[in-house]
Amino acid sequence: MDQDALKKQAAEAALQYVEGGVIGVGTGSTVNHFIDFLATVKGRIDGAVSSSEASTARLKQHGIAVLDLNAVGDLALYVDGADESNRDLSLIKGGGGALTREKIVAAASERFVCIADESKLVDVLGAFPLPVEVIPMARSLVARRLVRLGGTPVWREGFVTDNGNLILDVQGLKIMEPMALEQQINNLPGVVTCGLFAMRGADVLILGSEAGARTLTRG
Ligand code: A5P
Repeated sequence: MDQDALKKQAAEAALQYVEGGVIGVGTGSTVNHFIDFLATVKGRIDGAVSSSEASTARLKQHGIAVLDLNAVGDLALYVDGADESNRDLSLIKGGGGALTREKIVAAASERFVCIADESKLVDVLGAFPLPVEVIPMARSLVARRLVRLGGTPVWREGFVTDNGNLILDVQGLKIMEPMALEQQINNLPGVVTCGLFAMRGADVLILGSEAGARTLTRG
């Protein structure tokens, strides 16, 4: 099976968590499969809160109502992909640049189901460059501070987030304490948020694998 087929397998397995109400929907190629599966049960749900313009467009194409988070309050379920997960279900996200809205919807949700192919499971986070969303005027200040934290930030040139900000991808980190690093980076002036999802990691991780979808749960 190729990587995309494994992503699709994980996405389909996440459907069992959809019990109705309003669903939080993440961003990326794995979530695109999930949105396509969600469309097959759209009569069961009241709509979706989306984490990106791209996911909003795909949801609407399927005739799924996209609702404003401010209008719906807390959500029972959030489904999203990841760039890396460790065994505690702390994640690196933001390869697609949607990390801030993803973090907001994840925070508003009681259960976060992460879907990925099995190559995303790692012992130590950081081989995938950590995305950090920054206010444009703080780009170089934040980059210098990230160097002090031991990383090599690379500006994702030509890319602007849905919020009008920039992304620095931080290479060379070996993240032994994800929660502490998430807090440290988020505290730098000019940082909107970083792509570490440790304070609010996933509750369930569904991994597509040759042997079928397997599920890990937090704790
Ligand atoms: C989007 O900003 C990311 O957080 C995605 O969730 C992550 O990059 C996973 O993407 P794929 O499903 O395309 O691998």
